[in-house]
Amino acid sequence: MSPGQGTQRKKALSSLETGRRSQGSAPPIALRTFAPSDFEVLWEIDQACYEPAVAYSRRELKNYLSFSGADCIVAEAAVSKRDPEIVGFCVTARRGSWGYIVTMDVLSDWRRHGVGSALLGESERRMVARGVREVWLETAVDNAAGIAFWERHGYRNLGVRKGYYPGGRDALAMVKNFAK
Ligand SMILES: CC(C)(COP(=O)(O)OP(=O)(O)OC[C@H]1O[C@@H](n2cnc3c(N)ncnc32)[C@H](O)[C@@H]1OP(=O)(O)O)[C@@H](O)C(=O)NCCC(=O)NCCS
Repeated sequence: MSPGQGTQRKKALSSLETGRRSQGSAPPIALRTFAPSDFEVLWEIDQACYEPAVAYSRRELKNYLSFSGADCIVAEAAVSKRDPEIVGFCVTARRGSWGYIVTMDVLSDWRRHGVGSALLGESERRMVARGVREVWLETAVDNAAGIAFWERHGYRNLGVRKGYYPGGRDALAMVKNFAK
């Protein structure tokens, strides 16, 4: 199984991703498992995080969420007295000892506050608890923030996949090993 098969992972850094740092301290976030009622919000976040040409269609996102072995964790913040708002999410897939980061999305105003790290930590923890020993992902070669993020979390560069994205942009394949 590869989430990249058929419709390849089609993402790259967009102009929306310049990593604006919010002023002041961010409210605490809480992690929970995706619920079907979150779908539209997640799709909108994905649209905001990636260029229109490469953001997932609703159908693609639905497919990834319904893979056997798929998991999706959402990060919520209590931004006001209203219900908590979803500020980021991570979708993963796994088969046997093999895991894959399908997407990691954090709203621009919430970046550099540890939301991505919290989502990744919980996603990895769940995959490893279910037998995963190696996690793979692809990210665009010009996604400086993404590459810095993955490297910070111990993902190593396995090389370039030429023309992986629509329009011919190259991707970096990255992997993290959890075997003891
Ligand atoms: C990549 C992304 C998920 C990071 O989420 P985040 O919540 O900002 O990440 P964190 O705050 O947990 O950052 C952890 C560390 O990653 C690195 N990092 C994250 N963003 C970075 C940036 N813009 N520039 C340099 N390093 C960065 C830093 O080492 C950071 O630690 P620090 O803030 O103490 O320096 C977020 O920028 C995002 O959603 N981008 C758009 C979608 C995307 O590109 N996803 C990944 C590719 S699939």
